[in-house]
Amino acid sequence: MVNTVATAPGDSATIAAEAPTDNQKLLDFVTEIAQLTTPEKIHWVDGSEQEYTRLTDELVEAGTLTRLTSPDFPNSFAAFSDPADVARVESRTFICSEQERDAGFTNNWVDPSEMRETLSGVFDGAMKGRTMYVIPFVMGHLEADDPKFGVEITDSAYVVASMRIMARIGTDVLRKIEELDAFFVPAVHSVGAPLEPGQKDVPWPCSEEKYIVHFPESREIWSYGSGYGGNALLGKKCYALRIASAMARDEGWLAEHMVILKLTSPQGKSYHLSAAFPSACGKTNLALIDPTLEGWKAETLGDDITWIRPGEDGEFRAINPEAGYFGVAPGTGWHTNANAMRAIAKGNSIFTNCALTDDGGVWWEGMTEETPAHLTDWKGNSWAPDSAEPAAHPNARFCTPIDQTDMLADEYFAPDGVKLDAILFGGRRKTTVPLVTQARDWNHGIFYGATLSSETTAAAEGAVGTVRRDPMAMLPFIGYDAGDYLKHWVEVSSEADPEKLPAIFLVNWFRRGRDGKIAWPGFAENTRVLKWIIERLEGTAEAVETPIGLTPTLDALDVDGLAITQEELEDAITVDPQEWKTELEDIEQWFSRFGDSLPQSIQDELEELRSRVA
Ligand code: PEP
Ligand code: NA
Ligand code: MN
Repeated sequence: MVNTVATAPGDSATIAAEAPTDNQKLLDFVTEIAQLTTPEKIHWVDGSEQEYTRLTDELVEAGTLTRLTSPDFPNSFAAFSDPADVARVESRTFICSEQERDAGFTNNWVDPSEMRETLSGVFDGAMKGRTMYVIPFVMGHLEADDPKFGVEITDSAYVVASMRIMARIGTDVLRKIEELDAFFVPAVHSVGAPLEPGQKDVPWPCSEEKYIVHFPESREIWSYGSGYGGNALLGKKCYALRIASAMARDEGWLAEHMVILKLTSPQGKSYHLSAAFPSACGKTNLALIDPTLEGWKAETLGDDITWIRPGEDGEFRAINPEAGYFGVAPGTGWHTNANAMRAIAKGNSIFTNCALTDDGGVWWEGMTEETPAHLTDWKGNSWAPDSAEPAAHPNARFCTPIDQTDMLADEYFAPDGVKLDAILFGGRRKTTVPLVTQARDWNHGIFYGATLSSETTAAAEGAVGTVRRDPMAMLPFIGYDAGDYLKHWVEVSSEADPEKLPAIFLVNWFRRGRDGKIAWPGFAENTRVLKWIIERLEGTAEAVETPIGLTPTLDALDVDGLAITQEELEDAITVDPQEWKTELEDIEQWFSRFGDSLPQSIQDELEELRSRVA
């Protein structure tokens, strides 16, 4: 392979001579990391299919990947991680800003010079015996006005294969970086498992010691010790949310943890909504919804990350910077999310920590209504339906190219994205928060986002049912001070025409009725809520003023043909001032954590709510 060069690591002349580029910044970066980590080889990733085939062949050989032989999963692989490397590690994730206050109370902070010293220690020789891969990538479109480049250096071929699905990578990106002599985010990743001569590798190398580090001012990412998802695919959470949120603050835009959905009414009018939800609230199901109402059409643009930029006509425009799904597999099924399943069934996917079927496919809890009689679980053990543990890890993932989605909107491919008409914030709440409420204006909507909350589920650690605040569903992803982040949301509105600001809504699919059961049917029936939202945009739907915003009148929601009683509907949409008095106390406590950095306008919204509830 011409792109793989056996080089004396750190010899800058050799690296330069063998590199497919003469971009000096890139050569300097690669040389510096090669000298530090002393890999055996350097491979410049071109992103081609031949390269992907060769890498996945090698990963199968190494035991990292299992090739799926079932015709239901063409050109796809299963990976099984070390049982201790199965999720993002928030306690080992750091925002190393120059000043501690700039990391804010939602982040772990370490002094940057101290962290740099720690990193030079752990990365010293970290890639010994391994190949160092250089991945040029772009988040968002290559032909965007201001393309956002990165270069990930990694010693994991699994990361290269996954990054090829999740982002635009390789030679085209490299050529564009050269042409523009563009800035790129340097992103260094090592699994932290150097190999001594003759030492046998393991299928999933990683280290007990983990560091997921961001330097927001210099826009750098350093990740050590984990091979998993959001810890290792550095274009995703590390770049497109944490580093991008800091870029967005400085450049006047927003990097958010949101889906993008295009909805077309029976009259043929199209609208674009983005929506932020904490985990386990049905975010992916909303991104890939099949409308239940006659004549309505939904298309998706993305399921996880949205970049919102001011457009030329004073509107906000939204893009999805990613190229694939890295979705939670359990709970994604033919009966709950057929659009996701159809995309997965086209193949070209990498499944991590799912169970293997006896016919060479994968399975996870919730994929099919019927459970297979026998499986090999994610830990490699023989599994039967009466086994005590789930067959797939609860955080098992499918990694699938987004362009395999039948309902993908054409505008996904547009470099400047779509005009954003509405923003939804949602959480899982048994009480207090009605099915849908419209904010009175932009700042009131930011208050919804700032106080966004969800009850913890069995999927997360800690007591089930505890209310956790998760501002704009960005709690683990805000790359700077959380109060400054809210202030930026307030200020960014000045970049848009006030008439064209997206309307903001708060939704809750999970409110309980007086019988203790979830009052609203949810899932695809949420189409009816989306319809009301669009009718609000068009000025045709009725709403009532309540202390917390505008809610639908009893007959404004289209419940035609829906199995719901009048009582249930009332329970779903009602605002109970008594519940909001309790909520106010909780919000006050939450806001006290921001200290001085909570923007005055958000504090004012709290006072406004207090007087309306009284
Ligand atoms: C991840 O854990 O890698 C990830 C993509 O995060 P999440 O699903 O929590 O958004
Ligand atoms: Na790609
Ligand atoms: Mn996410």
